[in-house]
Amino acid sequence: MKDTILNSVQETLLMGPGPSCVPPEVYRALSLPTIGHLDPLFIEIMDEIQGRLRRIMNTKNRLTLPISGTGSAGMETCFVNLVEPGDDVLVLINGVFGKRMEDVAGRLGAMVDAIEFDWGAPVDVAQVRERLSKKDYRIVAVVHAETSTGVANPVAKIGALVWETDALYLVDTVTSLGGMPVEADDWGVDAVYSGTQKCLSCPPGLAPVSFSERAVEKTMQRKTKVPNWYLDLSMIVNYWEGKKRAYHHTAPVNMLYGLHQALGLILDEGPENVFGRHMDCHALLVETLGDMGIAMFVDPDCRLPMLNAVVIPEGVDEAAVRSRLLTDYRIEIGAGLGPLAGKIWRIGVMGHTARPENITRLASALSDVL
Ligand SMILES: Cc1ncc(COP(=O)(O)O)c(C=O)c1O
Repeated sequence: MKDTILNSVQETLLMGPGPSCVPPEVYRALSLPTIGHLDPLFIEIMDEIQGRLRRIMNTKNRLTLPISGTGSAGMETCFVNLVEPGDDVLVLINGVFGKRMEDVAGRLGAMVDAIEFDWGAPVDVAQVRERLSKKDYRIVAVVHAETSTGVANPVAKIGALVWETDALYLVDTVTSLGGMPVEADDWGVDAVYSGTQKCLSCPPGLAPVSFSERAVEKTMQRKTKVPNWYLDLSMIVNYWEGKKRAYHHTAPVNMLYGLHQALGLILDEGPENVFGRHMDCHALLVETLGDMGIAMFVDPDCRLPMLNAVVIPEGVDEAAVRSRLLTDYRIEIGAGLGPLAGKIWRIGVMGHTARPENITRLASALSDVL
C-alpha cells in the first residue's frame, strides 16, 4: 500500500512556538527496533533517562521521570497528584499557560486565587509577596517561560518567597528546559514539568516531571485517591523505580529512545554552551529584525531567548505572511494567541533550531514576503 499522504511530508524549518527542529541523531534513535517495555535493556535506558533529566533540571529529586503525554500531561500530573478538593491554590498568570493552570486546578476542586499581570510583562514579585503575607496556600504555581508572550518570569525570586511559607512551589518549564538554566533545587521548586518538543528538540509526546521529597510526602498524606488513574504517580513510580518493575501502562518505547538521545546531545554539547547558543541566536534575530524595522514586543530585561514575540508591522496581513512563509519557503512561525492575536508573531529559536543559518534563512524569506 502506498502511503501517499505521508509522502507529502517535507522537512520544515520550525521557527514557531514548538515543535522545534529535530536533529538527525534523535530521528535515528526514534527509528531503532522497538523492544519490550520490561526488557532489562529498556529498564537501563529508563534509568539513564532519569539521570539525564536530573542533570538538566538540576535536581537530586528521586521522583524524576517522563510522563507519557505532551506538556499538558505534565501540568495535569503535577496538579492531579498534589491538589485535593478545597485546597487553596495561587496561580500567577501572565499568559495562556498560566490561564491553563488555573483551569486545571479549578477542575480538581481547588479554591483557585489568581493574580493576573499584563500579557507581555513579568510577574511582579512585590504583589506575590503581599498576597503570601495575607493568606496560606497549599500550592503556588507559575510558568517560567510564558510561550504565549515571550516573557521570562522571575522564578528564583518567587521561589524564595514561597520557601518562607508552607506552600508547594509548582513551576512550568515546558519552553525553558534545555534552552536556559532550570535550577529546580536551588529555586526551591517542589513540582516541575516540561515537554519534549521545545528546547529538548525531540518530537512532542513526553513530559518530564520531577517532585521534591516534600511534594512526594504530600502525595502520600492525601485523604482522597488521585482522581486520574493514568497520571497517578504513586502507581507510575512502581514502573520507574526499584529492582522489580511493575507494568502500569505500556511505555512509549521509541519516544523514550528519542528523549534519551536528545538529552544526551545537550549534555554532550554542555548545557552552558547550549544556553549560550540560544542567547547568540536570539541576539542575532533581534538585530536582524531591527534592521528590517521590526520591533520586539517584550522589554529586554525579561525577554526569553527561545521565544521571540515580535510586533507585526503596520498594515501587514499577518496570516498571509505566515502562510507564504510556510508554502513558499517551508518555514513555520507562530501567530499571537488570545489578546495578542494579530498583534505579534512568535518566532521560536529552540533547541536544534537555534543555529545562525536558520535566523538568516528566516530573515531573508521574511524580507522577500514583506
Ligand atoms: C509554557 C507551556 N506550558 C504548557 C504547554 C502545553 O504543552 P503541550 O502543548 O505539549 O501539551 C505549552 C505548549 O506550548 C507551553 O508552552
